[in-house]
Amino acid sequence: MMLARDIATEGEFDVRIRKIRAETSEIRSFELEAVNGQLLPPFQAGAHISVTPFPGVTRHYSLVNDPADRSRYLIGVKRELSGRGGSSAMHTQLQEGGTVRIGTPRNNFALRPEGEGRRLLLAGGIGVTPLLSMAQMLASEGQEFELHYFARSNAEVAFRDLILESDWSHRVAYHYGLGPPLLTEVLQDILSGGGHSVYLCGPNPFMDVVRHCAETTGWSDDKIILEHFSAEVPVLTPGEGEFVVRLAKSGIELVIPSDRTIIEVMREAGVEIKTSCEQGVCGTCISEVVEGEVEHHDLFLSPEEQDSGRLIMPCVSRCTSRLLVLNI
Ligand code: FES
Repeated sequence: MMLARDIATEGEFDVRIRKIRAETSEIRSFELEAVNGQLLPPFQAGAHISVTPFPGVTRHYSLVNDPADRSRYLIGVKRELSGRGGSSAMHTQLQEGGTVRIGTPRNNFALRPEGEGRRLLLAGGIGVTPLLSMAQMLASEGQEFELHYFARSNAEVAFRDLILESDWSHRVAYHYGLGPPLLTEVLQDILSGGGHSVYLCGPNPFMDVVRHCAETTGWSDDKIILEHFSAEVPVLTPGEGEFVVRLAKSGIELVIPSDRTIIEVMREAGVEIKTSCEQGVCGTCISEVVEGEVEHHDLFLSPEEQDSGRLIMPCVSRCTSRLLVLNI
């Protein structure tokens, strides 16, 4: 018997499209598998992958499946007709049996460690995708959770079969077509009583309402973990000597002009970050790099730390790639 082996690749690699399925009129799911029967790289619940349906177009999609199942990656793609064409390309260019280039999974939306109390998973529309992976993980660990799925209507519910066939389907509540003030009432009801943590993913207006309701029902900010999805936001185009900084926790993107520091632009945009010397010496502003090529100008990091590409002092250092993603 041949044993499945891990894909050794880090970075980008090709996968085969095993199955494409219409989940709703606007959402398709794509089941991706390794081309040679290998196991795919491991991932945590909440992780996402990059997908390049054709050269020059790359989008990020959350993984839906159970992290224990490394025979496939399952993603859901909503076709955004007002977007930049990435989701349309996914819907129209990709065929079952074909291949597509993806990146190894990354996670900016990880589950917090075990602890007492219920986890509330609150999904708005296609924002359900990372929360489904979390639900499978929490169920397999025997942890207490509720998944609340807000959709425009019954017909807009994606991954219905995955939920119905699971042994945790009784923990899923569906809420259809709610707008304010009813949405607020329902959320306050769900959120009252506290718990371990709230995981939230959906359109920004939905997330704003949830955050407001969480605040008014006594949840502290550190218990609210959220992921913005706006894969089709307009592309910021940096000019010569400029680059774009994306703040992974909020999804905020900022253009850093050639004559301004990252810190200056962040401050102007209302993003708080502690600084002291602002000369790359003291270490106060040290930040974690998720993606991008750093051009170090500081005197604080060791040569090894600089070479790792994982840390940056944003008061002085810059980026040589178009995009720098910081874990802020
Ligand atoms: S503020 Fe001192 S190193 Fe950046």
